[in-house]
Amino acid sequence: MNQKKDITLLAIETSCDETGVAVVRQEEHAVQVLGEAVASQIDIHKETGGVIPEVAAREHVRVIRPLIEKIMQESQVTGEDIDAIAVTVGPGLMPALSVGVQAARTLAYAWNKLIVPIHHLEGHVYSALLQKEENNRYTIVPDSFPALALIVSGGHTMLVHMPAHLQYRIIGTTRDDAVGEVFDKVARMLQLPYPGGPHVSRIAEEGDMTAYRLPRPMLDSHDLDFSYSGLKTAVLYAIRDMDPTTFEAQKPHLAASFEQAVVESLTAKVAMALTQNEYRTLLLAGGVAANARLRKELVNTASDHNVELRIAPITLCGDNATMIGLAAAFAYNAQRIQDWNKTDAMARTSLESFSVI
Ligand code: KG4
Ligand code: ZN
Repeated sequence: MNQKKDITLLAIETSCDETGVAVVRQEEHAVQVLGEAVASQIDIHKETGGVIPEVAAREHVRVIRPLIEKIMQESQVTGEDIDAIAVTVGPGLMPALSVGVQAARTLAYAWNKLIVPIHHLEGHVYSALLQKEENNRYTIVPDSFPALALIVSGGHTMLVHMPAHLQYRIIGTTRDDAVGEVFDKVARMLQLPYPGGPHVSRIAEEGDMTAYRLPRPMLDSHDLDFSYSGLKTAVLYAIRDMDPTTFEAQKPHLAASFEQAVVESLTAKVAMALTQNEYRTLLLAGGVAANARLRKELVNTASDHNVELRIAPITLCGDNATMIGLAAAFAYNAQRIQDWNKTDAMARTSLESFSVI
């Protein structure tokens, strides 16, 4: 990055059920986070066992303005210090996305600034691509490319080939449910609270992962795609066929067997992708990147294939605005910026269309 002066960006994320705000400053070889916060709606959505888009949107509306004011104050910046406003424009829940985009449009108009539109998944990618140091500094590691990114979240399961910064080619994706979604559905079958991923993984620690023979989805498919509906059904049948009096005792074993099947399916496809191309770096990001077993297994996969593994810090695995600011630092530099009145929320939008060629 060789801009004339340090660039300061306000970043906003409201694609699902977390309201994220951050202020980042792009320096020569690093991005400094000046302030950041995530207001989680988990307690609200727990009651319905999932996210109702309108409820999420109403909560974003309630918290976004005070959150922006608080983070700007903590970062000791005013509207004048902000060079541009970065915002997640998609994909996500339309009512939720619209709140963040509308906030960004309003501030850009009021402060006469440009907008850096960010794809939610490039945010996740950049949370792993940069190296977190002390004092909330994220350094830009030279020679990271080509990079292979595994993005695993509640909405996406994706392998992305990156020949350079801001260049994305999707080489594998899920044919049905996303990994996080399956964790959440299996959690519901096991009568665990929402969001289920962390709960499944916690009880799995005490279980025997060989207790249930569950399918390893798509291992013979010869492509890089994923599919989880078969595995989900297999878990359902295992519960149905179980003596109900043993349910509580069996839960950890079923959770561990399920988690292992998921992890094996993911690492197998990563290994396949690593043999198809020369990669320097393997990135792991998204909500499910918080999963300890997945993190551990990917360490082995990376060392087997001689690539450097970079995993998003736990604090940036879930949705947040810091990752949007990190990606935006690069997008701003590449002039991927636009006027407020050209900026709209897009519930569905492809990561590839955000590539800078
Ligand atoms: O990236 P994220 O916060 O939101 C989306 O963009 O979707 O991902 C949330 C997903 C949820 O499905 C949640 O259950 C899952 O990540 N998750 C986990 C773990 N922590 C969060 N799944 C498995 N193991 C975990 N430790
Ligand atoms: Zn996400």
